[in-house]
Amino acid sequence: MKTYRFGIIGCGLMGREFGSAVARWCHLTDLDFRPEIVSVCDVNDEMLGWFSSNFPSITQVTGDYHEMLANPEVDCVYCAVPHNLHEQFYCDIIRAGKHLLGEKPFGIDKPANDAINACIARHPDVFVRCSSEFPFFPPMQRLGRMIEEQAFGTIIEVNSGFLHSSDLNPNKVINWKRMIDVNGEYGCLGDLGLHPCHMPFKAGWYPKNVRAILSNIMTQRPDKSGNLVPCETWDNGTLLCEAVDPSGGNVFPLTIKTQRIAPGETDTWYFEVRGTRACGRWSSTNPRRIELMFYEPGTDQGWQQIDMGWEPAFKGITGGIFEFGFTDCIQQMWAAFLYELHVGSSLSRFASCVTPDEVAYTHRLFTAALKSQADGTTENV
Ligand SMILES: NC(=O)c1ccc[n+]([C@@H]2O[C@H](COP(=O)([O-])OP(=O)(O)OC[C@H]3O[C@@H](n4cnc5c(N)ncnc54)[C@H](O)[C@@H]3O)[C@@H](O)[C@H]2O)c1
Repeated sequence: MKTYRFGIIGCGLMGREFGSAVARWCHLTDLDFRPEIVSVCDVNDEMLGWFSSNFPSITQVTGDYHEMLANPEVDCVYCAVPHNLHEQFYCDIIRAGKHLLGEKPFGIDKPANDAINACIARHPDVFVRCSSEFPFFPPMQRLGRMIEEQAFGTIIEVNSGFLHSSDLNPNKVINWKRMIDVNGEYGCLGDLGLHPCHMPFKAGWYPKNVRAILSNIMTQRPDKSGNLVPCETWDNGTLLCEAVDPSGGNVFPLTIKTQRIAPGETDTWYFEVRGTRACGRWSSTNPRRIELMFYEPGTDQGWQQIDMGWEPAFKGITGGIFEFGFTDCIQQMWAAFLYELHVGSSLSRFASCVTPDEVAYTHRLFTAALKSQADGTTENV
């Protein structure tokens, strides 16, 4: 059993999710590697307390990530900090020779992402991937296998999105994700947009062009003292793209939707493929259900609804009839990261983390989307 020793920089919402996935690593079977958290870094002491009291393996607790990077006991780093810190932190981590799983958007904007990619190119021995857990739900894995088998026929249309309603309440206190200088000009695209790009990009369905409609619905929010302050980030974004299917060369509409103000949606990821031979769709609203339609000329067009059980890419102890959830999804993503680092290749195309090249394409797309919104034009990506 090979142990990969981790440091976590940014012990907030996502840092803790990783901690929990590590704490129950024995859930996964058939793996000859495991992560161990040895070092944690956050500028907020409250965040560090949860780690120190739950992980006896931790030998370093610091508010200065440079101390972690100087620690020879740390092999890999998970970095989950606000977007304005990505470029500096990721480049320092890579230069220190630590393998990195970094959070999206992997740079606050395209110049920051370009700088990170230049740093990756100078350090080919460092393994770098970007976090996105969306495709690890079993129905998404199944749709991925169908894409690989070209079961959909000619692609007619693909719709992929991430909608939630956490900003619907106008009284919600502003936080860094609603501030341009910390979250970035992309707004909801930078915050949510990588997730709905993950499956289409793994499929090879890259947008050629984009017409973006972005909205800033709540233009003010209260700060911690209750004073109304400007809230300038884009809340919702719809990207209508033309994408190309590399298998047949045909061009089809690809819609990518990201909304932080989507009434009725708690945290909904969805993905839909419509093809001439088959259609498939999944939404996290009903996470175990996949809907499929297989079409033969002259036959009825009936949707099948299949409730999938615990059928993930990386096997584990849970019975096959039980439900799969968000925390499973996070752990599967971590298994995919470590599998690729350990083995040298991914388990499968859709059981793999987002690569730096795929992230770079999201920055091209989101940068073109900002121009499309500003000028009311369709922009090449
Ligand atoms: N993959 C996902 O599903 C998902 C979900 C939410 C957020 N994210 C991404 O994760 C990253 C962090 O988001 P979050 O929701 O966890 O935010 P968060 O605010 O909950 O956590 C960020 C943490 O970084 C810490 N931090 C800030 N400055 C620091 C510094 N100089 N040194 C060390 N620590 C510092 C903060 O104290 C905080 O604890 C972002 O890039 C975000 O886009 C990903």
